[in-house]
Amino acid sequence: MQNLKEKYLKFFESKGHRIIKSASVVPENDPTCLFNTAGMQPLVPYLLGEKHPLGKRLCDVQKCFRLTDFDGIGDKTHHTFFEMLGNWSLGDYFKKESISWSFEFLTEVLKLPKEKLAFTVFEGNEYVPADQESFELWKACGVSEDRIAYLPAEDNWWPSMEQFGPCGADTEIFYWSDASSPAPKVFDPKDSRWVEIWNNVFMQFNHLPSGEFVELKQKNVDTGMGVERTTAVLAGTDDNYKTEIWLPIIKDIERLSGKSYEGHEREMRIVADHMRAVVMIASDDAGIRPSNTDQGYILRRLIRRIVRFAKKLDIDVASAFEEPIIDTIVSQFKDYYEEVERNKGVVKEVFAEEKNKFNKSLENGLKEFEKVLAGFDRKEEFLRRTDPNAKVERKITGKTAFNLYETFGFPIEMTEELAKERGYEVDLTDFAERFKHHQELSKQGSDQKFKGGLADSSEQSARLHTATHLLGAALRKFVNEDIRQKGSNITPERLRFDFNCDHKLSGEELKAVEDYVNEIITKNLPVTYSEMTVDEAKKAGAIGVFGDRYGELVKVYEVKGYSKEICGGPHAKTTGELHHFKIVKEESSSSGIRRIKAILD
Ligand code: SER
Repeated sequence: MQNLKEKYLKFFESKGHRIIKSASVVPENDPTCLFNTAGMQPLVPYLLGEKHPLGKRLCDVQKCFRLTDFDGIGDKTHHTFFEMLGNWSLGDYFKKESISWSFEFLTEVLKLPKEKLAFTVFEGNEYVPADQESFELWKACGVSEDRIAYLPAEDNWWPSMEQFGPCGADTEIFYWSDASSPAPKVFDPKDSRWVEIWNNVFMQFNHLPSGEFVELKQKNVDTGMGVERTTAVLAGTDDNYKTEIWLPIIKDIERLSGKSYEGHEREMRIVADHMRAVVMIASDDAGIRPSNTDQGYILRRLIRRIVRFAKKLDIDVASAFEEPIIDTIVSQFKDYYEEVERNKGVVKEVFAEEKNKFNKSLENGLKEFEKVLAGFDRKEEFLRRTDPNAKVERKITGKTAFNLYETFGFPIEMTEELAKERGYEVDLTDFAERFKHHQELSKQGSDQKFKGGLADSSEQSARLHTATHLLGAALRKFVNEDIRQKGSNITPERLRFDFNCDHKLSGEELKAVEDYVNEIITKNLPVTYSEMTVDEAKKAGAIGVFGDRYGELVKVYEVKGYSKEICGGPHAKTTGELHHFKIVKEESSSSGIRRIKAILD
């Protein structure tokens, strides 16, 4: 039996769409976002008018991750990692085809009863009139007017009126999910039994930072359908975790814990959701590894939360309990994303290493926790010397809870739970304030970092960018030819380059690398680029930073005889512009990843 993904891609292929490969789960050209959160994100340049090498009709299934849902995980419908199906018209078809094909796919391919479908369309605002055309088009499909609701921009404008970039009015498709009662004749969008399954966005505008909405060069269609949710709808269940997607993972967890899903839903859903997210993030060619910042921090949090909830389920976390679950998840995804199978071993290593680290800090943290409790007893004993009735308030301060969080990786719920078992409370308000302050600081840190990224396009940044290419080439020549960029951050003052390497570089290695880069600089060679497809780039021997994207047109920057890389630029015009290259620091970034900071002086 074909699953939803196969049916969807096949259907749109039959309507003249080319199937494109999912992009990395980490956006390549958008430093403001940690992860791709929608299928259209990697397609922004094409929605803005860039020509796509595969044409004007595309469809795919994209790996997505949404951080906003982290705290919602544990209920029936939320996931951190999910897959999004999408079909796009890049200045080709518009509302008519988009709506009639959506209707055809739902009613004829998925065979959903028309009586269970409802639709929303945009009611209009000062920029764009009401979308009467979509209303009429749904009606033309045979939908009754009672089942089409006009809603304001908060509901039917994507991504939102506030966000910049390509955007537009959308029409959303809902399905009646309650098997125990028939779908009401009149559609009430506030009734949560109507579940949104598909969003068709008519991307017609570019929202500029000046506040203006300008018409795009072309009218696009961008649609998105969540695989997990729609699969649940098709299976007639309101619990996503009871579908063919999640059941094999839940079964593994039941077997490993000796417990059944019923009665342990929340814990099992968290373990299942996070395991899938870990597999998909760690297997991605972006090379994310656990760390204390950005995507690496998310990966760390996911693994730690898995360990904690696995423990709650009495799973032996010292054993390799994660391995069978990883195998199950890899077998589910390998036909769609070949990197998942290729990097299976890496995922297992990454997981085990982080798990062991956490298990160790967990022990130390528990010791610290006991010390804190003993402190309360001592204080009470002391006070009782003068007042036999003295009592101390058994409340753990926000400071202590935050220390347990920051130093020992104790999630606050865990501290709270441990405290409760012993008759203590935790000052959650104070903790929340400290946590917020900490988050603001790290956010400022990341904003700062992003501000200093290549976005400034200054000549100095362009020169440093060229220096990273030469540095990569030098590392491949003198240290290991398998070295690849795993992260790059450039401020006008310095470059920071992360790369895979299993050892600290020796003084000789660093000197050879530095001398080689300076030798290329002295030769004052031209830095040129040409455009080609990823396949052609590979054939030409270019290095690609992130996973390959079949068929996509890319720029390849070259310093003849030394470096050839797929890259968006910008770069210096000649190597001579770099003057002199100096490495100022070499350190570990995370496990298996080294970091070099260097300047041009
Ligand atoms: N970009 C829209 C969404 O994410 C449609 O794909 O809902």
